[in-house]
Amino acid sequence: MAPGVSGYDLRCPSHKCKIGGVGGVTMRVAVVGGGVVGLAVAWRLAAAGDQVTVYDPAPGSGATGVAAGMLAPVGESRFGEEPMHRLLLAGADRWPAFAAALTEATGHDLGYRDEGTLLVALTDDDLRTVARLADFHRRAGLTVEPLRAADLREREPLLAPRVRGGAFVAQDRQVDPRRLAVALRIAAEKAGAAFVGDPVTRLSDVDGADATVVAAGCGSAVLVPGLPVRPVKGQVLRLRATGDAPPLRHVLRGHAANRSVYVVPRRDGEIVVGATEEERGTDVQVTAGGVLDLLRPAVDLVPGLAEYALVETAAGSRPGTPDNAPIVGRLRAGVLVATGHYRDGVLLAPITADAVAAMVRGEAPPDEFRPFGPDRFPGVST
Ligand code: GLY
Repeated sequence: MAPGVSGYDLRCPSHKCKIGGVGGVTMRVAVVGGGVVGLAVAWRLAAAGDQVTVYDPAPGSGATGVAAGMLAPVGESRFGEEPMHRLLLAGADRWPAFAAALTEATGHDLGYRDEGTLLVALTDDDLRTVARLADFHRRAGLTVEPLRAADLREREPLLAPRVRGGAFVAQDRQVDPRRLAVALRIAAEKAGAAFVGDPVTRLSDVDGADATVVAAGCGSAVLVPGLPVRPVKGQVLRLRATGDAPPLRHVLRGHAANRSVYVVPRRDGEIVVGATEEERGTDVQVTAGGVLDLLRPAVDLVPGLAEYALVETAAGSRPGTPDNAPIVGRLRAGVLVATGHYRDGVLLAPITADAVAAMVRGEAPPDEFRPFGPDRFPGVST
């Protein structure tokens, strides 16, 4: 696809190279892992004319199927991680054109919304936390509008009367990761990618490819010995309005008596409430305590949620790394890795796809990826 109405040019990540069907070499690429990252890579490469095979017994069923899909470059990052901020902001910049191109390619509704995020504080202590976060957003270059309690409730009437105040971050967006995964698979298949359901337990299970991209989230550590990716458990709830309850309009990042929660309303009436962050190895059991830790602050901030149906509880494993940053780069000739996206897999999927598309051809990835190669970790088996 040429640069279309969406402005997302699928031919070339850097706008410098010519790849695949556009006058370059066609590569045979194996993508191991069909989460949002692997699927975005597969679509990117297949649309550029490469022969792509995705290996995953159940694409979209891992962390992608649990994720809330907030596209929040600052809300999901930590104080003092400057190179990571640059990457997250660059990742967010890609999203509007990426979403438009994917919708155009598939006709599929991604649940993409850009009403922005409200930071909400319940108590005076929480208000100080929100003020610090608002300042953090501002220093990262985002526009943040402080809001008094009355202004907050005017924008979001379902907020509790005792909410003390907050702020509005206009640039934050959201997408529904489940819809996104379906659309990416359709787009990749339309572009010629093949899907194989056999599990891959060793990279030698994949043969005949010019390049193999390991994008298997936490499972990447099994395929690449020494890769420091570990599961970080997240429990997430899905609610649905009953009767004619009025809808929420904005993503809420709430702070209620020093407990934090996010509440993500979809246009179809689903509300995602998340997420715990737990070091529990591969355990993905939903616990009563986890549900309580999410529902208590959510209902304190939006009392009407207590009347909603609790339609799903789920837990997934985020691929965490020692420095909370992704691992994207070349491991050895013909093998690349794209994993460790931790809390930002959905946000970073488009820019990761651009990076991998460049590196498959020996091109440099976008500058923002320079600090995040596997070579920063000694002991990764190459
Ligand atoms: N990105 C939200 C989370 O990981 O909980």
